[in-house]
Amino acid sequence: MSGAGEAAVRVRGLTRRFGERAVIDRLDLDIAPGEFVALIGASGCGKSTLLRILADLDQEIEGEVEVPMRRAVAFQAPRLMPWKRVWRNVVLGLPPVRGQSQRARADAALAEVGLTHRAEVWPKVLSGGEAQRASLARALVREPELMLLDEPFGALDALTRLKAQALVGELWQRHRCAILLVTHDVEEALLLADRVLLMKEGVIAHELRVDRPRPRRVEDAELAAMRAQLLAWLGVGHAAGVAA
Ligand SMILES: Nc1ncnc2c1ncn2[C@@H]1O[C@H](COP(=O)(O)OP(=O)(O)OP(=O)(O)O)[C@@H](O)[C@H]1O
Ligand SMILES: [Mg+2]
Repeated sequence: MSGAGEAAVRVRGLTRRFGERAVIDRLDLDIAPGEFVALIGASGCGKSTLLRILADLDQEIEGEVEVPMRRAVAFQAPRLMPWKRVWRNVVLGLPPVRGQSQRARADAALAEVGLTHRAEVWPKVLSGGEAQRASLARALVREPELMLLDEPFGALDALTRLKAQALVGELWQRHRCAILLVTHDVEEALLLADRVLLMKEGVIAHELRVDRPRPRRVEDAELAAMRAQLLAWLGVGHAAGVAA
C-alpha cells in the first residue's frame, strides 16, 4: 500500500480470497481527488471487504492498492468508546499538532457537525443521529484526503437520515476530500455522488456518472431515469430485466 499520487485511489487487479472463494476478483478502481463516489451492490457482494482494504484494515490481498496517507473511516455503527467523553472520542488516537490543543481540534470538528453542545457528554446519552455525527467529526478532524463511509446512515430513521445525508453533502463541498460511500440506498447515491459504482461478482460491473447540478432533488426526471437504470442493474424494481 502506498501513496496514490495524482489520484485519490488507484486499485489494480485487487483480489481478496476467503478460503477458495475470491470475494474480490481482479478489481480495478480509480477515484479522483475530491471526487464523491457511491458504491452499491447486493448484500454480500464485497463492498465492506473493499472498504476495509482501502482503510488498510485488511492486508491479505493480491494486487495494487494506492490510497492517501490521510484517510478516515466511518462505519454503520458509530463505534465510540463508552468510557471517553464525546470530544475525547473525536480526537482518540489523533497525532498531536504543535500549537493546537486536542480539545480545540475536537471542538472545531464537533461544531461542523452541529454537536458543540454534546462535547462533554458520554457517548451513551447521544441519540443515534448524534452518535453518527460524532463519528463523522472523528473522521473530519483527521483532515482526510479520502473518507471511507460504510453505510453510515443505515441505522437512522428516515428524517435523521435525510439530515445526515445533507450534512455529508455540505461537509464534502467544504472540505473537498474524496469520498467513497457504501450504501444500499440508490436515491442516496444519486443525490450525493459524482459517480455511482455497482459491484457484482468481485468487480465494479457498472458505473454511472451523475452529471446533475447540486443541490439535487429526487423529483429530477433525469435522476429518476438513472434510478431506474441502477435498479435494473441491481436486478430489482419494475425496470429489472430492461438492461443487463
Ligand atoms: N473475515 C471473513 N471471513 C470469511 N468470509 C468473509 C469475511 N469477511 C467477509 N466475508 C464474506 O465475504 C463476502 C462479502 O462480505 P462483505 O461484508 O464485504 O459484503 P457487503 O457487500 O458489505 O454486504 P452488506 O451489503 O450485507 O454489508 C460475504 O459472503 C462474507 O460472508
Ligand atoms: Mg457491508
